[in-house]
Amino acid sequence: MELLPLLILSFCFLNLSGMTFAAESGPPDTNITVQEDDDVILPCSFVSSVNIESMKFDWKKKGTLLQKEVFLYDNGSYYNNGLHGQDEQFKGRVSHFSKELKNGNASIRINKTRLEDSGQYTCIFPDLQPERKIFRIELVVEPVLKVRNVTGASPKPYVTILKNKGQLQCEVPGAYFKPKVEWWDSDNKTLPSKTLKDRKENGLFYVIIQSTSPKPDCYRCVTTQMDIWHRISSEICVHEEPKIGWIVAGVAVGVLVLVVVGILVWCLIKKKKGVL
Ligand SMILES: *[C@@H]1O[C@H](CO)[C@@H](O)[C@H](O)[C@H]1NC(C)=O
Ligand SMILES: *[C@@H]1O[C@H](CO)[C@@H](O)[C@H](O)[C@H]1NC(C)=O
Ligand SMILES: *[C@@H]1O[C@H](CO)[C@@H](O)[C@H](O)[C@H]1NC(C)=O
Repeated sequence: MELLPLLILSFCFLNLSGMTFAAESGPPDTNITVQEDDDVILPCSFVSSVNIESMKFDWKKKGTLLQKEVFLYDNGSYYNNGLHGQDEQFKGRVSHFSKELKNGNASIRINKTRLEDSGQYTCIFPDLQPERKIFRIELVVEPVLKVRNVTGASPKPYVTILKNKGQLQCEVPGAYFKPKVEWWDSDNKTLPSKTLKDRKENGLFYVIIQSTSPKPDCYRCVTTQMDIWHRISSEICVHEEPKIGWIVAGVAVGVLVLVVVGILVWCLIKKKKGVL
């Protein structure tokens, strides 16, 4: 422990030697911007290689009233592994780098960042003397909307008729606000449908549904985004198929006519031969 006062602490990003530590409030030491849904590493580490495996460090996020518990490590124990008290917002999403601890690296990773993760984080070594060591990081999580410069309203859904299955398929190609996707008939009645895909990827929702068309009609795939009162649809019409019975009857009549004509021609030729 006599070593500790000699240690020079710093952010790995800034790499400033002899940096003095910020008070618990004040301007951040590092600013990080990340796109919503991406992972982010919040850096916090000693410049010199010091083993922190048996130490304690605590990551907190500044809240409006109280601080939120992000991650706590204490001599080999941490949240979800012997320690309790982590804020719901961060449950199952925060991890440390256990192999890096012996190098003095207390950085954490937050998986799948959300907009509400934006804010000020502190990484504190509460037991270090003579003073508590505090690293401060400002995290900005940018909405996909802004990053990709897209509007929140869903584009027109993409509709197809799957010929071999007699099914209507509707695909929403990436919507920012969660869409409700339905097939409606011409009376605006919802058809039963099955969901083939309903996933959020890189901050956008992708949905594919299929319905069976009960009768020839024009159907609309309707995408509704309740968050922004937005509705958009694409229409596709299923035409009456020629009935298989009529085709069979038609072919039968055709064959019959051919046979009759054939017989007549044959008779005529026979007759002519007889006359000659
Ligand atoms: C600490 O560990 C993380 C994760 O492996 C790494 O990204 C970061 O660069 C490390 N920091 C330093 C100062 O080595
Ligand atoms: C850390 O835990 C080990 C046992 O896993 C114990 O022997 C040691 O005394 C602990 N160190 C501190 C600083 O609490
Ligand atoms: C179905 O809804 C559309 C608007 O979404 C409306 O224009 C149309 O009249 C409705 N049709 C029926 C049969 O209610």
